[in-house]
Amino acid sequence: MSQSTKENQPVEIIILAAGAGTRMQSGKAKVMHKLAGKPMLEHVLTLARAFNPEKIHIVYGHQADQLRAAFNQNDINWVEQAVQMGTGHAVRCVLPHLAPDSKVFVLYGDVPALQYADVMPLVEQCNRKNLLGVLLAEIENPKGYGRAIIANGQVVKIVEEKLATDTQRLIKHVNTGLICAQSAELIEWVSKLDHNNAQNEYLLTDIFEIAAAEKSPAFFHVCSSAWRAFGANDAQQLADLERRIQLDYAQKLMANGVRLADPGRIDIRGELTTGMDVEIDVNVIFEGRVELANDVKIGSFNRIRNCQLAAGTIVHAHCDLENVISEGACEIGPFARLRPGTVLQKGSKIGNFVECKNAQIGPASKVSHLSYIGDAVLGERVNIGAGTITCNYDGVNKHQTRIGSDVFVGSNSSLVAPLEIGAGATIGAGSVITSDAPDAQLTLSRSPQKTVINWRRPEKAI
Ligand code: UD1
Ligand code: CA
Repeated sequence: MSQSTKENQPVEIIILAAGAGTRMQSGKAKVMHKLAGKPMLEHVLTLARAFNPEKIHIVYGHQADQLRAAFNQNDINWVEQAVQMGTGHAVRCVLPHLAPDSKVFVLYGDVPALQYADVMPLVEQCNRKNLLGVLLAEIENPKGYGRAIIANGQVVKIVEEKLATDTQRLIKHVNTGLICAQSAELIEWVSKLDHNNAQNEYLLTDIFEIAAAEKSPAFFHVCSSAWRAFGANDAQQLADLERRIQLDYAQKLMANGVRLADPGRIDIRGELTTGMDVEIDVNVIFEGRVELANDVKIGSFNRIRNCQLAAGTIVHAHCDLENVISEGACEIGPFARLRPGTVLQKGSKIGNFVECKNAQIGPASKVSHLSYIGDAVLGERVNIGAGTITCNYDGVNKHQTRIGSDVFVGSNSSLVAPLEIGAGATIGAGSVITSDAPDAQLTLSRSPQKTVINWRRPEKAI
């Protein structure tokens, strides 16, 4: 046996993710259900990787293709558990893959909210003297969890809810499912498990009694914020965890000075970074990576995905923004839809019922009402009248519209791309512009107005 010290003992991680997830009542693998916009398994993998493990073994069973496609990463060793016979059986499937002298840290794929600081002491304390440890949580309503039987400051047994006596059910210290053990002993104990119990399953939790009988009772840590240890077995538990994690994110934002109209009405499904004096009204959803610089104000009912908004940008209510960059203070909405590739320069304004895609809106340019601006580059101080459409698509290809600085486009104009409108040009309202318009001139295309004298409306025959 090598004489490596505790410090350099390699860590191997096992993530149990093979369960059918029957309680979720879903065709999707349980661990693929999302918490804060990411599959539960992704949260658990992030935690696993924080330990810089030698190997990550994921035990999978149901919806294998779905899982492997979503996490096609080469630090993962996929271990199949073809028939799910319990958590002990799941770990048994991994035993042939374990190194003889490592620290094995077991995580459950449906316990997704724990963080490095919560579990680090467990992994750190496990060594060749402290062979087995478990993370416990003290839960007010422990229903459904395995209860920890503690004697002389050590866990000597974990009894599952279904197998517990009434008195044991009163115990509030529960098993989070996270355990850390020396590989040699884990292999020995897990090999001894049987399924002679009322659940007819190989219960990983039975190793605590086996270890205690071999004079290796487990040490334990109690998770400081109990809710982080909650498992998500069904839709209700998942929703409960979602609200708690969102409130936690909201509290972190407020600690950074962000003014939230209501910390209970914000959803962050990704990473949100904020500057100073940011204000966020109710019911805003942030997805992916969003950066809000100083003094950004977000109105109510917005969805903002993968955006970078510069200092002083204001997003009024009811907008949908995806892959948008604002390069200076500008104003958006209400009711704007800004699609990928929209770049807004300083002082620009996008008003209500405007859709933009792959469009650069130059400094101080305005698209105030009811327009579609796609595949377009606008200079400075351009004014786009209500109802203007860039006709960027000919049915096969997309074409660009270039609009010079100080252009004024009259309302209800169709700009048929490819097209260039010269600086200072004016486009008469209601025009269909099909070829380039020169600088500083009025260009329009519509029939002159006429009045038909003595014209009569048709009348109904009597
Ligand atoms: C388990 C624990 C319980 C603990 C709780 C914490 C056992 C026997 N019970 O109960 O003590 O309080 O978690 O949330 O471990 N899985 C497999 N293969 C199987 C069965 C399960 O990979 O054959 C996976 C599941 O996908 C899941 C995890 O193991 O990710 C836990 O299984 P689950 O059935 O959810 O156990 P719980 O009843 O929650
Ligand atoms: Ca569970």
